[in-house]
Amino acid sequence: MRIIKIFDTTLRDGEQSPGASMNVDEKIQVAKQLVRLGVDIIEAGFPIASPGDFEAVKRIAAEIKGATIAGLARTKDADIDRAGEAIKLAERGRIHTFIATSDIHLKFKLRMEREQVIDAAVRAVKRAKGFTDDVEFSAEDATRSEWDYLCKVTEEVIKAGATTVNIPDTVGYTVPQEYGELIEYLMNKVPNIDKAVISVHCHNDLGLAVANSLAAILKGAGQVECTINGIGERAGNAAMEEIVMALKTRPKFFNADTKVVTEEIYKTSRLVSKITGMVVQPNKAIVGANAFAHEAGIHQDGYLKERSTYEIMKPEAVGIPQSKLVLGKHSGRHAFKARLKELGYELNEEDLNKAFEKFKHLCDQKKYIFDEDIETLVSEEVSKIPEAYSLIDLSVSSGINQKPTATIKLKVGENIIDRMEHGDGPVDATYKAIAEITQTKSNLLKFEVKSITGGTDALGEVTVSLDEDGRTVRGHGADTDIIVAAAKAYINALNKLVARKR
Ligand code: KIV
Ligand code: ZN
Repeated sequence: MRIIKIFDTTLRDGEQSPGASMNVDEKIQVAKQLVRLGVDIIEAGFPIASPGDFEAVKRIAAEIKGATIAGLARTKDADIDRAGEAIKLAERGRIHTFIATSDIHLKFKLRMEREQVIDAAVRAVKRAKGFTDDVEFSAEDATRSEWDYLCKVTEEVIKAGATTVNIPDTVGYTVPQEYGELIEYLMNKVPNIDKAVISVHCHNDLGLAVANSLAAILKGAGQVECTINGIGERAGNAAMEEIVMALKTRPKFFNADTKVVTEEIYKTSRLVSKITGMVVQPNKAIVGANAFAHEAGIHQDGYLKERSTYEIMKPEAVGIPQSKLVLGKHSGRHAFKARLKELGYELNEEDLNKAFEKFKHLCDQKKYIFDEDIETLVSEEVSKIPEAYSLIDLSVSSGINQKPTATIKLKVGENIIDRMEHGDGPVDATYKAIAEITQTKSNLLKFEVKSITGGTDALGEVTVSLDEDGRTVRGHGADTDIIVAAAKAYINALNKLVARKR
């Protein structure tokens, strides 16, 4: 059975999803989980794109062991050098350089001739080789490129030292049969193709990213580039969990597998969703809330008689837990820490203490504590940012014949400031009071409330997106009181804006 390499680009292409940007600590947390998941390569960012991206790639390279860490670079010298610098401390580092090869990109974007593009690609690969042996070249918009020209580019970059050549469907244009034929064509026509791994990278504009990737695997592709939950530029990238489980479920058909620890899939999906604020649709394959739910009577009947009548994969195989009671009022710090570890979180002592305090507080408010509640508590510690503002107190009054009113107390630097405001509802009044105290100029782009588990005492989780001067940030807040959760989410987002400005 062939083992297909999984190149995860959640932290690079995935982060290009509108509004999905992550801070460095959040990226580290995702990268650690990707290692537990067993991916082969983590594309950690695009180092030349911003100081933040450079820092993220550099820290991931230095701190994350157990996977190859890749940094993206155009073919420009400065890009390659910056990527080389960022991956320097990696156990195994890769430079991933790219330039477009389609005539449409050459004419309108690059304003270059075909030969010039080959020269740039070859120079970039050679320069990257000065930093690492592991160099990947991507022919951007490969699926709209002329096939023989693509063969030529592939041959030349392999001669220059590329060990992986990626054939991206940048704009999600191809269809499975055509893409499979393209990969087969390259396999047959490029004389030195055996010296490199052929990689595929599909976007989902026509909803075909996973199908196209699988078609390419059948024709010899040895690496798949994908993201958790399929997040990514525009309609997203191929969803890793779908590719991995397709190979796992149909071994005879594909004769290929991956090294992914499938039991870690669900946890990874939830972590990425929580950190990026990109909610997973309920009917999403593999990780959606309904992916393993049998609703129709006939299905339920068949399933109860014999699972395999309506189930092609077991939820346990992707790590979907039965929501279970995990800990309670009397659980100690050790049990809490051990449970966190099982859930994939490793906190330092200080963060652990804070999370444990919150857990104890939650136990006083809520009878049953589930894994999802604990994840929500700790994700606040994981995504921590310096607090310019913190919530000290909040009280609201509202009712059918009452003007909604909020009185809020915030710590701003060393000062405690309070304010009372009226609004269209208790959340509106609370947000007006916070906006007055902080004097924010930001606009509220998105406000979402969801309950973490069932029951009227469930934790409510609020996510908000704010925009100020073109900077978009997301804030999260969770509490059994949804007005408090809303206030926490707003304050969290405002703190991120302050941190960004600094
Ligand atoms: O979609 C694309 O072509 C890319 C490349 C940079 C690989 O993301
Ligand atoms: Zn892409």
